[in-house]
Amino acid sequence: MILVTGATGNIGRELVPQLLAKGEGLRVVTRDAAKVAALDPRVERIIGDLRDGATAARAVAGVDAVFLVGIIADASQTADRALIAESARAGVHRIVKISARSTGRGIGQVHLEQEELIRKSGVAWTFLRCGMFMSNTLGWAGTIAAQGAVFSPFGQGKMAMIAPRDIAAVATLALIDARHQGQIYELYGAELLTVAEQVDILSRVLGKLINLMDITPQAAGERMRAAGGSDQLVEGLVALWTMVRDGQAAFCNHEVARLTGRPAQNFEAFCQDHKAAFR
Ligand SMILES: NC(=O)c1ccc[n+]([C@@H]2O[C@H](COP(=O)([O-])OP(=O)(O)OC[C@H]3O[C@@H](n4cnc5c(N)ncnc54)[C@H](OP(=O)(O)O)[C@@H]3O)[C@@H](O)[C@H]2O)c1
Repeated sequence: MILVTGATGNIGRELVPQLLAKGEGLRVVTRDAAKVAALDPRVERIIGDLRDGATAARAVAGVDAVFLVGIIADASQTADRALIAESARAGVHRIVKISARSTGRGIGQVHLEQEELIRKSGVAWTFLRCGMFMSNTLGWAGTIAAQGAVFSPFGQGKMAMIAPRDIAAVATLALIDARHQGQIYELYGAELLTVAEQVDILSRVLGKLINLMDITPQAAGERMRAAGGSDQLVEGLVALWTMVRDGQAAFCNHEVARLTGRPAQNFEAFCQDHKAAFR
């Protein structure tokens, strides 16, 4: 039995069908039953909040492997801490954790601390340190619809975004095959693009003119704070945006192809697959 946390999120939505296709027994946990109503009937559901230790204990009971998405929006990390502790108590064999390269503060630092907690828990682990997700660009839909524009703090910085489907493919391998235990995989896309190049691609796929408006990382941070983002989240993102803007995040690699035997999805294919969500 495999527990998938964040099954209704970007990676989880892709991971559930991939694990089912391998014939794995699955359990998911969500705070909202309606979000999992359409899932395959073979999937066990636990409705609850993982910040509640009793929900975490129920979620891991009888489970062999846990997919830990990382509920980073929860500044105290109560949910992830509870899940790691309960996994150790329940004798879970391995945890596959979504992580990120640490920039020494903000979200990356939180991931690093969580990696350390897992190492100390005694449960075997695989860490998937991911680059930026292509699904972040789905957040452009609102301003594309309202203003025909994308507002970006990345300047001319290049990045190699990764598709959640590819992260899910690597997570599937790590959840079912013990040979990935103790490994840290750095997962980036294979294509380095500026946001201007991304917007051009999306514009072509949607058949619609989209303007790109450059904003400073600080201005983007203020927007996020006004929308309710925590100080920790805003600080981490401003640091990340600045790094990309300064050209310090131009990493790409071929880990997805090496591990899965299939090349990473490129941004154009992602846009084609998600056309409806961008409109
Ligand atoms: N976005 C990036 O570029 C990027 C890059 C590197 C690493 N990461 C990491 O990737 C991870 C996923 O990020 P994401 O933005 O893609 O989020 P996401 O997985 O799309 O959404 C969050 C998921 O967590 C679940 N969740 C939230 N609070 C919960 C709670 N209290 N109890 C139970 N479930 C809860 C939600 O489930 P319900 O709403 O159904 O309850 C939802 O499925 C994070 O750890 C992030 O730091 C992201």
